[in-house]
Amino acid sequence: MSNWQELEHKYFMKTVERLPVTLVKGQEARVWDEEGREYLDFVGGWAVTSLGHCHPAVVEAIGEQANTLIQTSNQFYTIPQIRLAELLVQHSCLDKVFFCNSGAEANEGAVKLARRYGKHYLDGAYEVITTMDSFHGRTLAMVAATGQSKFQQPYVPLPTGFVNVEYNNIDAIKVATNTQTCAVMVEPIQGEGGVNLPDDSYLAAVRAWCDQKGMLLILDEIQTGLGRTGTLFAYEQYGIEPDIMTLAKGLASGVPIGAILAKNRASVFTPGEHGSTFGGNPLTCAAGYATVKFITDNDVAGNAKRVGEYFIAGLERLRPKFQFITDVRGRGLLIALEFSSDIASSAVMACLDRGLLVNRLKPNALRFIPPLIIGNGEVDEALSILDKALSTIVI
Ligand SMILES: Cc1ncc(COP(=O)(O)O)c(C=O)c1O
Repeated sequence: MSNWQELEHKYFMKTVERLPVTLVKGQEARVWDEEGREYLDFVGGWAVTSLGHCHPAVVEAIGEQANTLIQTSNQFYTIPQIRLAELLVQHSCLDKVFFCNSGAEANEGAVKLARRYGKHYLDGAYEVITTMDSFHGRTLAMVAATGQSKFQQPYVPLPTGFVNVEYNNIDAIKVATNTQTCAVMVEPIQGEGGVNLPDDSYLAAVRAWCDQKGMLLILDEIQTGLGRTGTLFAYEQYGIEPDIMTLAKGLASGVPIGAILAKNRASVFTPGEHGSTFGGNPLTCAAGYATVKFITDNDVAGNAKRVGEYFIAGLERLRPKFQFITDVRGRGLLIALEFSSDIASSAVMACLDRGLLVNRLKPNALRFIPPLIIGNGEVDEALSILDKALSTIVI
């Protein structure tokens, strides 16, 4: 173990089982450890480095902004946040933006916005329906929103006002709806919960139910947004529009940022009702602007779609050889490979030994969330390593 890893054990709270690698450098879809070993990165900082590591457009924007203005209070107008907000509105169905610093914080703000809407228009309704196997973040309220007991149990009692129902089941949402319900919050495709794709009609049915009841539809596109699933936003593939959408992860290709977007009619915060010291910071927004501009100017979402389809076809070709593969699923470059038994940790280590970083999604599943700028060449390389790695696994 290197000295850095010993120091980590000494000084850090143990909230994560780290892999025995200290990364020191990244470029495009590759990272290097402190011994100079190169890895092909199909984790991408957990679906964050949308343009790859240290993309020149992002690096240049950060450098220029760092030399100009890094932070002001939000009592002042600053240009990068306005430019990024305009770009996001131009490329989405939403009208207004609020910036924050992470996904959990974006979802917290979205729920606060829905509660304000409930106070204004729904007789004080405040409950939000969310789904089982979702993931909305680690703050206490978002743990309550996240329908997974492993995240909830250590912290009970949890904040009230959330009802978790079965995903991909419109009747479950209908049954859970009452006069206190102000919104439904869902991920268009569940990421952390298993790369779970809904039936084609599910989101349209949720949209129609929200319309019928006058409730808001919040889409958590923190993982699926910004091109990850093959369109700029996943909602485009389901023929619906949310009232509120949250973004984070890939929004600034590695720089921490979150955003709440809302339709005009749902944009009901008034001054003082919500805020953030760092939210909309010029440095992060300059990185966000460079990222979103590159994604939209270069059809990065289209690339994710094409390369994702090529990748899924390649994974399907591994199935006859490895009978323990039970499922290949995903959209764009959000892809899961499921096994008949709990071999994901062994597969992660076998890939790591051969220079490929992959994510253990569940004890029996891997997830691939590489940068969206990769081509078929990187996919071929990953498939070849995966083939060798899986060959070492004995069931
Ligand atoms: C769909 C979704 N929502 C929210 C979050 C939380 O984001 P953060 O870790 O930036 O708080 C995540 C993180 O994985 C996510 O995938």
